[in-house]
Amino acid sequence: MEVVIAPAQELAVLAAEAIEALLRRRPQAVLGLATGSSPSQVYDELARRHTESGLSFAQARGFMLDEYVGLAADHPERYRNVIAADIAERVDWPADQVQGPDGLASDLSAACAAYERAIADAGGVDLQLLGIGTDGHIAFNEPGSSLASRTRIKTLTTQTRVDNARFFDGDVEQVPTHCLTQGLGTIMEARHLVLLATGRHKAEAVHQLVEGPVSALWPATVMQFHPHATVLVDEAAASRLQ
Ligand code: F6R
Repeated sequence: MEVVIAPAQELAVLAAEAIEALLRRRPQAVLGLATGSSPSQVYDELARRHTESGLSFAQARGFMLDEYVGLAADHPERYRNVIAADIAERVDWPADQVQGPDGLASDLSAACAAYERAIADAGGVDLQLLGIGTDGHIAFNEPGSSLASRTRIKTLTTQTRVDNARFFDGDVEQVPTHCLTQGLGTIMEARHLVLLATGRHKAEAVHQLVEGPVSALWPATVMQFHPHATVLVDEAAASRLQ
């Protein structure tokens, strides 16, 4: 596991550089997309590179990590809409080449299985962007998740719903209780994992991720087994590293 400690803007540039290098080498690359605060500067940097130096997503495929269950199709916090606004619609990415698990499906288990097949049919994810929850989740694999898990329905912890209330007018009651999420086993099949974490509130999770024993209690620790994992953290998020 490679750990880089730098200011947030530099971390975003490093992540964007890795994505640009991949897309220039392989325009039809498969990108794994995270939502939330952590990747937002990366998406800004990619949009800038699209406008200023012609970085193209026209042939790329995108797979989101997760989706809330039951949010209305036009809800601004539905992750499909977040990804459209944060990156896909700011670049030349055809809408049908970016997919997420279907949190509005009548059969959620079938939707999860279909999502696994879609990722496999695309040849797997080349580069997976990740954030980390304060409780150590990646995607929405909350503590206790099987390290071998696949895309499935999960209950969000109270901690995650409180953390995400900031996207729902500060009202935790508006945060959905369930989600569909890629499993840890699914994420581990991506060829390169790039995790971003900034801020002191992430310091304990980053400490566990890098230095803790591998355990389902801190799901991100499974990344210690990955052959190509890059952890990009600012000084505050790195403050508990030995
Ligand atoms: C979002 C996701 C989550 C977030 C994590 C950190 O698609 O999968 O694991 O990455 O909750 O969220 P932020 O970046 O908002 O602190």
